[in-house]
Amino acid sequence: MRALVSRGPGAPLRVEQVRLPAPGPGELRIRIRAAGICHSDLSMVDGTLAPAYPLVLGHEATGVVVEAGPGATPEVGTPVVLNWAPACRSCWFCRHDEPWLCVANAAPAVARGETADGTPLHVTLGLGALAEEVVVPAHAAVPVPAGLPPEQAALLGCAVLTGTGAVRNTARVAAGESVAVIGLGGVGLAVLTAARAAGATPILAVDVAEAKRELALAAGATDFLRSDDQLSKQVRARTEGRGVDHAFECVGRSATIRAAWRITRRGGAVTVVGMGGKDDLVSLAALDIFHSARTLRSSVYGSADPDREVPELARSVDAGTLDLRPLVSGTLGLDEAPAAFDRLARGEGARWVVTF
Ligand code: APR
Ligand code: ZN
Repeated sequence: MRALVSRGPGAPLRVEQVRLPAPGPGELRIRIRAAGICHSDLSMVDGTLAPAYPLVLGHEATGVVVEAGPGATPEVGTPVVLNWAPACRSCWFCRHDEPWLCVANAAPAVARGETADGTPLHVTLGLGALAEEVVVPAHAAVPVPAGLPPEQAALLGCAVLTGTGAVRNTARVAAGESVAVIGLGGVGLAVLTAARAAGATPILAVDVAEAKRELALAAGATDFLRSDDQLSKQVRARTEGRGVDHAFECVGRSATIRAAWRITRRGGAVTVVGMGGKDDLVSLAALDIFHSARTLRSSVYGSADPDREVPELARSVDAGTLDLRPLVSGTLGLDEAPAAFDRLARGEGARWVVTF
């Protein structure tokens, strides 16, 4: 089958023929219908993250079960969304209702199958979903209702679960609270959508790219602000001088974490959703940490239980109460995926989704 493979940081992306093993006990083979391109995939291509190579990219996808190994459910024909952090249900975190922190969480790259020339192959986050098929543990496949547009269903597996979970589960935004979102890719736009659904106001969307203005307003922002040295002033002008109740950092950089900190009111909360680098240090004044009384926390996979929340989100899409159309910039074939990575790197569009 064909898959989008990275041979290492900086190497050109190519669609390659690869071989996957047949599903073993408790495993499923899933034919992918749609897979989104997330910034975390880009980080594995540009070397920000360097897992193991050759690597099949992709971890945000929907598909249909086409083969079930011994003892594996759901049955053949079931539509599913892939979960890149399947919970073991027995570790300390799972038993304490924090399955997103499960100790058995998939490594960034997991060995599975081989390339056409016989080199051992790895798959991103245990999935490798920018491919015609995946073979995964059954608990990495969450059944969803049939009939959702595949390019929207795919996003439930990463950007949408992460963004909505950050608002609902991690920050618990209440109606009437003020929100700022820094970084308006798939994740930040999903945060905007959830903030609007929560009744937040104002909802300030912040990005370096002016081209994100229209996308942000369509997704639920009340204002678009350029990320520059005037940002603090602009935010304070819209929040009676205080700063926002909640700031969401959806870029993954120390500079934007510090910006989120600065635009949050005393006693407010900063939620870091972006995944930053291990050498990118955030510095905050000790006096300011004390005096500002702010909370700084991160949201891993939306502090969500995907087994419960992905089907809930799917039902909201189906019922028309969750509109994911503003998040999808376009669909494309697998051969066009390398070009879409370039667009993502330039900050163009919301989510680009490969369909099969
Ligand atoms: N200030 C504001 N916005 C910025 C800045 C900055 N200094 N630098 C980049 N951005 C914007 C980009 O213009 C882009 O709109 O951040 C956005 C990032 O969007 P994507 O590349 O589409 O990233 P996304 O897939 O949404 O992921 C965001 O969450 O899951 C993590 O690893 C992921 O850290 C990444 C983050
Ligand atoms: Zn992702």
